[in-house]
Amino acid sequence: MAVLTLGIESSCDETACAVIEDGRVVRASMIASQADFHSQYGGVVPELASRMHVEAIVPCLSETMAQAGCTYDDIDAVCVTKGPGLVGALLVGVSSAKALCEVKGLPLVGVNHMAGHIAANYLSDPAWEPPFLCLVVSGGHSEILHVKDYTDMEYICATRDDAAGEAFDKIARVIGLGYPGGPKLDKASVSGDPNAYSFPTPRISDSLDFSFSGIKTAALNTINQIRQNGGEIDVPDFAASYQDAICSVLIDRLDQAVKMTGMRRICLAGGVSANSCLRRKITELAKKRKCELCVPKMAYCTDNAAMIASAGYYDYMRGVRDGMDMNAYPSLELGV
Ligand code: KG4
Ligand code: ZN
Repeated sequence: MAVLTLGIESSCDETACAVIEDGRVVRASMIASQADFHSQYGGVVPELASRMHVEAIVPCLSETMAQAGCTYDDIDAVCVTKGPGLVGALLVGVSSAKALCEVKGLPLVGVNHMAGHIAANYLSDPAWEPPFLCLVVSGGHSEILHVKDYTDMEYICATRDDAAGEAFDKIARVIGLGYPGGPKLDKASVSGDPNAYSFPTPRISDSLDFSFSGIKTAALNTINQIRQNGGEIDVPDFAASYQDAICSVLIDRLDQAVKMTGMRRICLAGGVSANSCLRRKITELAKKRKCELCVPKMAYCTDNAAMIASAGYYDYMRGVRDGMDMNAYPSLELGV
């Protein structure tokens, strides 16, 4: 009989629940996004996010169960994001999961949000499995991991400063695109020329680590100079050029990681994996280096609970169980 995992995600501004079959098949996935609400403040306001999670979690759970056509008696484990993320927001998911487990006598599995993003690949390609290299790019993280097994991964390199999503969001705000910046920048770039503006290519010697502060500062300087001279930014051109610069750095490091490890299976994870330029560049890299490629479906790139239920399934099958003393861990690292 199929193993059903219930996933709960509340690490940032999305309240999400999902029911997954055997870690791979999505029975139901609901997302209540607060993004429109937070856009008036130009970013997520943590305290307001927590309160909105409290309001959204019970209806989200009931609708997910109805959509999945099952009851809590059919669920094998409750998998919840325990970190990293906003502590107040995480606590809503964690407390709800614990309450459910206590009342229904179900096993509790705490999931690392970034492991969840990686599992989005398992929901996108039924045949995709470790080992592989994963370029993880979200609002708070940018790193390349060697995923040796479902629950065994090793860092290869990471950003020394901003995450890729953060670098997109900051510049999108400055050029007037608003929040959330990444998708808006992506959209604006469609009709732009990626060679219209140029940015420095950062290099960190003796390491594959990357940095976006130089590109970001150069972008800010260019914007200020143009504005001081009474000119205007060509938004599509600027978006296309800036996006190209960030994605080129990420893909260059992934290329080096492929060469260094000899691993010829690559994939993307995290909100920025929705970016059209990054998806195009990784497809080109896979072709050039003859790598097998997995790119997450758009629905599973940004925060959702299906990916948490999938990652949690593999933990559950390997015997991971958390107790009622499990907390929310805002700075949780991947267990590597
Ligand atoms: O993974 P995610 O949903 O949340 C975190 O765990 O951080 O990632 C959100 C990040 C934001 O910075 C957002 O701007 C970025 O992903 N993002 C994009 C795109 N869609 C989302 N960045 C570039 N292009 C996109 N299409
Ligand atoms: Zn995320």
